[in-house]
Amino acid sequence: MADQIEPTGTETATWEYARAPESTDIVRLDDRYGLFINGEFAEPKSGRWFTTINPATEEPLAEVAEAGTEDVAVAVEAARAATDAWQGLPGSERAKYVFRIARQLQERAREFAVLETMNGGKPIKESRDVDLPLAAAHFFYYAGWADKLAYAFPGRPTPRPVGVAGQIIPWNFPMLMAAWKLAPALAAGNTVVLKPAETTPLTALLLAQVIQEAELPPGVVNIVTGAGETGGALVDAPVDKIAFTGSTEVGKAIRRATAGTGKRLTLELGGKAANIVFEDAPLDQAVEGVINGIFFNQGHVCCAGSRLLVQEPVFDALLTKLKDRLQTLRVGDPLDKNTDVGAINSRAQLEKIEELVASGIDEGAEIYQPACDLPERGFWFRPTLFTGVSQSHRIAQEEIFGPVLSIITFRTPEEAVEKANNTPYGLSAGVWTEKGSRILWMAQRLRAGVVWANTFNRFDPTSPFGGYKESGFGREGGLHGLEPYLTFDGSTS
Ligand code: NAI
Ligand code: MG
Repeated sequence: MADQIEPTGTETATWEYARAPESTDIVRLDDRYGLFINGEFAEPKSGRWFTTINPATEEPLAEVAEAGTEDVAVAVEAARAATDAWQGLPGSERAKYVFRIARQLQERAREFAVLETMNGGKPIKESRDVDLPLAAAHFFYYAGWADKLAYAFPGRPTPRPVGVAGQIIPWNFPMLMAAWKLAPALAAGNTVVLKPAETTPLTALLLAQVIQEAELPPGVVNIVTGAGETGGALVDAPVDKIAFTGSTEVGKAIRRATAGTGKRLTLELGGKAANIVFEDAPLDQAVEGVINGIFFNQGHVCCAGSRLLVQEPVFDALLTKLKDRLQTLRVGDPLDKNTDVGAINSRAQLEKIEELVASGIDEGAEIYQPACDLPERGFWFRPTLFTGVSQSHRIAQEEIFGPVLSIITFRTPEEAVEKANNTPYGLSAGVWTEKGSRILWMAQRLRAGVVWANTFNRFDPTSPFGGYKESGFGREGGLHGLEPYLTFDGSTS
């Protein structure tokens, strides 16, 4: 009897998963979406439309308007015309609108999460448990400041809004980035023109419907869809401030375009974060943090822990555990509630990842990928580890923005700091160690806007987020995130 129940060997012990697909019935898509200007959806004057797809299936989802220069000008005029009335409202009244948006996001969270996953490819469990709750939390948090601005910055003149903000966001966290931009701007009394990324416009357009239902005064929020050209037109338009999240390359171009114009600017750009594991770290927890750090959202995360720095004595043990853990990641249908790693956001991004991974192999690093079946259609990339990575390799220097981890070893804390800081970026870092004093010692020396200790990818609306060096400047979140939308020049008008 005993030999009937005895396992035949560990290599055959596999997990059987039952598919658990989330229904898409809750999402009602229109065939076409116009531009959201002055409280209404309007046909683009440009006459141009583009198709937005589901990156997991390559199926078209809807047609979306492409805003031309003239369309952007009309949106900025609408925002300008709305400033006096919006700024003139008591803060407590403005807060009501922002609270209303927050509550609607909670009410309709499932619909938003499913649409976010359909349009962007991220696993439903992430859009459901991270993107949407955090987006709502940002609106709630900043709504609370709207009537307290006079007390928010003690010792400084009473702040006033800067006016019209042009906001350009990326495709990796479409709703969350819209929330990071809109919530502080609106609470501070600004009006906005928001440009979502060209591959993920649909949740922003659903948000436009929520904004209509919340009865925000027309023109306070305008949403113009399109690609880089539309973004460029918004940068050049007569706005008072530009807030941008995206690539360092475009961030530099925007900095050049706004120089000398008097437009305020905040940039949240790329990263190449070091996740640093010391020999005394709790390894099993560290493995989870490393996995989350690089495979969350397919690695399409500006603060992703894309470089793992491991202290030599634990390198072998950690690598074995990481490889084991990689085998258990579920890659595939983002709408399946079991899925850990979804679709790559676009063909262009997939090509960028493939190119950088090929460079890693060419330059002599050693690649490891678990066996997994990838769907036939759509854009996919296997979770990938590189060992034997040297600091000069492109995969150690450049942002891959995909599920690819470069592993580097170190001996001393000083060496860890030097290697961690040896990058043009400075957005985030992670430290794994039992020693509190070492955490503080490291945090003081790491040139990164956020340093996580014994955790990674933790976000909270009360906590400022932003970078050093080529990761940009300015902070989002917390009181720091209100400042870029306020002026403290002391005048009373
Ligand atoms: P991107 O920087 O081109 O796009 C981000 C946003 O900027 C989009 O809304 C886009 O339409 C807009 N944009 C593009 N060109 C513009 C211009 N000249 N003026 C104004 N707005 C413009 O990023 P892309 O091409 O989608 O991704 C390239 C790389 O950038 C990624 O592989 C990744 O390394 C990095 N990236 C970093 C992000 C972050 O969160 N820091 C987000 C997205 C991309
Ligand atoms: Mg680009």
